[in-house]
Amino acid sequence: MLEFSPATTLSLLDLVTNQALPLGKPEVVVEIPDTYLTDERLERPGVEGIAIQRLLTLAQQLSSIRFSWGQAAAQRVLASPAVHPLASICLCLNNATHVCENGDVIGKDAFERARQNLVSHRLGADMFSERQVLISLDYQRPSLPFDLYEPSSRRLRREEEFEALVDDLLFAQRGAGFRAEVLPKFRLPIAIILRELIENTDDHARTDFDGSILKPNAVRCLLVKRIEQEQLFPAKMENKNPPMPCLEFTIIDSGIGYYNSYRRQLLRGQARGIPVKVGETQADTIRQYELGPNVSLDIEYAILLKCLERHSDNAVPDTRPGHRGMGLYEVLRALKMMHGMFEVRTGRIHGYRSFLEGEARLQLESEDSKTRPGMPKASLLDVSSKFWKKPTPHELVRGSVVRVVVPLV
Ligand SMILES: Nc1ncnc2c1ncn2[C@@H]1O[C@H](COP(=O)(O)OP(=O)(O)OP(=O)(O)O)[C@@H](O)[C@H]1O
Ligand SMILES: [Mg+2]
Repeated sequence: MLEFSPATTLSLLDLVTNQALPLGKPEVVVEIPDTYLTDERLERPGVEGIAIQRLLTLAQQLSSIRFSWGQAAAQRVLASPAVHPLASICLCLNNATHVCENGDVIGKDAFERARQNLVSHRLGADMFSERQVLISLDYQRPSLPFDLYEPSSRRLRREEEFEALVDDLLFAQRGAGFRAEVLPKFRLPIAIILRELIENTDDHARTDFDGSILKPNAVRCLLVKRIEQEQLFPAKMENKNPPMPCLEFTIIDSGIGYYNSYRRQLLRGQARGIPVKVGETQADTIRQYELGPNVSLDIEYAILLKCLERHSDNAVPDTRPGHRGMGLYEVLRALKMMHGMFEVRTGRIHGYRSFLEGEARLQLESEDSKTRPGMPKASLLDVSSKFWKKPTPHELVRGSVVRVVVPLV
């Protein structure tokens, strides 16, 4: 006799909580309730990117995932998917089916049209909205966003083109309480940061360990939001600054994550640049094991720091106009200059560095350092404990989420 096992059901909003993902279940139904449209948790800094990563983690290990949409949620998301990032990712999963909770009032082609609309979204078309997403799909019906990639060559746009995009984006923020003077100063560093981070998803997060395109979903996205960011580690508790208006950029991918990509370069070589290095304490582990129970959290963390400092020796202490960025270290350096913030969630680690005004000035090289005076050290604080470097173990997730926050006041 066939055994009938009911599908596990969860709400899309459960992805915003710490509730463990139902991994290892054969079939999962995700309900998208109408309250999704008004849930304030998604507006909090950093929350939506993490929820998207949990959705990608879940979808990646299922053979199929079914979305059951509330009427109002479907109508609104399908009408303008790019301003509903979390729900719009559901439209891009290759192993998903969609139904409406009370009958099939919305036809299948409406979901397909919304998907088309989403992947052809231009940031320029909607600069004034408080949030929007650009999506790259690398497997099955691949599609790259026009704003980030040159369509004929399918290559990432040049630095100057990123600058022009950032220019438009910043210009559109002028009415939102931002100070006009900072905008021209920040255009180049923000363009460098975005290009470096998107290039990293291109280089390290489209393929599996053996170099083949990820399956069943290879999704990368850039989320842009206006947020109010509060200090995480104020230097003086008693005069903590109020939350400040910021632009938040979140770069998300469904790839193999930092530890495994570093391991891949070590074992299989890499496309360009000097070879990556590994310390003696990590060498045996990283050569033997992919990320999982055999890799201690300390080793995973050490490798993540190796990633952050990969280009620290080539970093240039002064801000030269037109200076090309060098990887993640340049991202940290530019954020220090702009008093911004950096956060990364990959594997089991969730770390951050904050250079926000009034924040404790931790982990900087000394001003007498010959090579990097006053520049950031490649280190992270733990997001859960806020004040400690020691990482707290988090649920093992797919890919990576990098969030950068730039105050514009
Ligand atoms: N999205 C990502 N997914 C997985 N690993 C990543 C990702 N981004 C960065 N990494 C890891 O971090 C390392 C350092 O990145 P960084 O951008 O500083 O240098 P690089 O990409 O190796 O070199 P370059 O940027 O000069 O081409 C990478 O080599 C890779 O192992
Ligand atoms: Mg890089």
